[in-house]
Amino acid sequence: MSQQSRRIVVTSALPYANGPIHIGHMLEYIQTDIWVRFQKLRGHECIFVCADDAHGTPIMLRAQAEGVTPEVLIERMKIEHEADFADFVIEFDNYHSTHSDENRYYAELIYTRLRDAGHIRTQVISQAYDPKAEMFLPDRFIKGECPNCGSEDQYGDNCEVCGATYAPTELKNPISVVTGETPIEKDSEQYFFKLGDYEDMLKTWTRAGHIQKEIANKMDEWLNEGLKDWDISRNAPYWGFEIPDAPGKYFYVWLDAPIGYMASFKNWCDRNDHNFDDYWKVDSETELYHFIGKDIARFHTLFWPAMLHGAGFRKPSAVYCHGFLTVDGQKMSKSRGTFILARTYLDHLNPEYLRYYFAAKLGPGIDDIDLNLEDFSTRVNSDLVGKLVNIASRCAGFINKRFEGRLASSISDDSLSQQYIAAAEHIATAYENREYSRAMRDIMALADKVNQYIDEKQPWVAIKDETRHAEVLDVCTIGINCFRQLIILLKPVLPRLSAEAEKFLNVEPLLWADLENNLLDHPINRFKPLMTRIEKVFIDRMIEASKEDLVKEQNIRTHSNDPSIEPVDAEIAYHEFAKLDLRVARIIEAKRVEKSDKLLQLTLDIGNETRNVFAGISAAYDPEQLEGKLTVMVANLAPRKMRFGVSEGMVLAAGDADDELYVLIPDEGAKPGMRIR
Ligand code: MSP
Ligand code: ZN
Repeated sequence: MSQQSRRIVVTSALPYANGPIHIGHMLEYIQTDIWVRFQKLRGHECIFVCADDAHGTPIMLRAQAEGVTPEVLIERMKIEHEADFADFVIEFDNYHSTHSDENRYYAELIYTRLRDAGHIRTQVISQAYDPKAEMFLPDRFIKGECPNCGSEDQYGDNCEVCGATYAPTELKNPISVVTGETPIEKDSEQYFFKLGDYEDMLKTWTRAGHIQKEIANKMDEWLNEGLKDWDISRNAPYWGFEIPDAPGKYFYVWLDAPIGYMASFKNWCDRNDHNFDDYWKVDSETELYHFIGKDIARFHTLFWPAMLHGAGFRKPSAVYCHGFLTVDGQKMSKSRGTFILARTYLDHLNPEYLRYYFAAKLGPGIDDIDLNLEDFSTRVNSDLVGKLVNIASRCAGFINKRFEGRLASSISDDSLSQQYIAAAEHIATAYENREYSRAMRDIMALADKVNQYIDEKQPWVAIKDETRHAEVLDVCTIGINCFRQLIILLKPVLPRLSAEAEKFLNVEPLLWADLENNLLDHPINRFKPLMTRIEKVFIDRMIEASKEDLVKEQNIRTHSNDPSIEPVDAEIAYHEFAKLDLRVARIIEAKRVEKSDKLLQLTLDIGNETRNVFAGISAAYDPEQLEGKLTVMVANLAPRKMRFGVSEGMVLAAGDADDELYVLIPDEGAKPGMRIR
């Protein structure tokens, strides 16, 4: 176990300062925090830095909508983020902001070094511009009809209905999300980072063990196409750092975001008397790891190493990508209540349940991780409460009541403890390689062993026989020592429970090296339950609260321009409602639409005419079930051209999710063609 002490810097991706932390984010911060805690437990120097990603258009616009300055918004967000992280027991050595002096310094330094070495060029390009807001529009701030399937209300970069990707200029009837104006094309000069200059370096670097195979394969798609120059500038008004010697031009948020890792680390160095350059110079002997989600791999495995290389800094030792969190097998959904904010989770459940569950599911790859809510409570209850905590509670009672709270001065058999020590090296390797699920499996197998041992020895029987009391003390001392070893092994995952266990064991904070020795002739404290079971009602309440979060959020956003949230209309005047021509319709024919798993094609009779309507209700109905039924349709909706034909209206349906919609059916007496009034 004697390993040389390593000097390690670790980062998680910097969360955007325009929204709250949710449990999808937490997957990453928990994965990283476990790794960092493991390194520290092993006696290495490991510095974990992070920051809020505080620049960019969404933050600028959200601040405007709230009527505050961006500085005020990002300050508030940072406080909220830090509280969420602290309550999930994420222990950063430093949490900073990309809107900081250090970050401005390093962004300017890196940029000017790249520029002076000839890796920056300028070019006039034409981009979408909102003449009313007098600003250039990022793709996500333009909406319109998909050029492929005609679906309305799609973003400027891709269609959520058919999945097509395109340039914002291809959208039909585009509008600016900021003002509702039609964007125009406008020329301006932009600054480009010549990524192509680093193609050879990157081809080698991405295949030299610094990134996962799956990611390297993905990056090959770009590397083989030939790397395009990267537009690193944005025109005013923009919330960020102005580019040196380029008035009115700002660094694109993704230029200064990763530099935020350095800035946060520099800030830590200054306060902790460490030398920044030791860690960031080329050929530094320290290690640098970035934990990120697979969605931002390109920034971290192509752009970032190129920037560092070009500016004369070291490159990461490795970039570790993880997959996305799903809940009950599906993308987190606001309407199903599975878009769970970190704070909402914390209001209802113990953070260490989730830390353990994520650990039990996380591997080294980029597969998505599913939080299955039923499995979650079963697993936590059985492993942590049923196995781990149970060991201590079974043994502590006897020791406290019968042996004055003191462990035996020797044990008759240390074979279990030796088995634990033998298993620990594999478990350490699993942690090191981010195979947490394997580590958890191995640890729980060790917990099973000591539980079986106690079952066999039946101390609750032996205690009734005065002559066998020494045996009870022996068994319980062995049990408590196994418990102590399990706590060491689980400490990276369950820091809070471990701290409570250390109090109960009456010991100083445990280190990995403490696995080797036993606790003998030692007073322990009274045992308090270290963790309680998850009850289903807690989960139900959390889901309900998440649905309410959605309503709250929408009420705030109704009066704002934030494009990340579907707008919900505020009150409408009667005359607006009266514009709707709602009619009773009879479904005379219903059939499935080929190549669409959502849509049914309906032929509707509205008295004096028939209408063809495509409705996204196929999840809840077989077409035959619908034929002959009455329903309600919007008859004066502008016809909409879709890939499958023209849709001439809309039927009304109710549901919490897109894949679960039920049509409205009028009461007896209603006839096709009748108006809803
Ligand atoms: N600000 C950028 C990162 C800049 S790093 C120099 C960003 N921010 S983010 O808030 O959108 O995401 C932060 C991290 O959380 C990213 O690594 C992202 O992949 C991760 N996740 C966000 N949602 C997630 C899930 N649903 N599941 C797992 N990880 C997720 O990207
Ligand atoms: Zn489309």
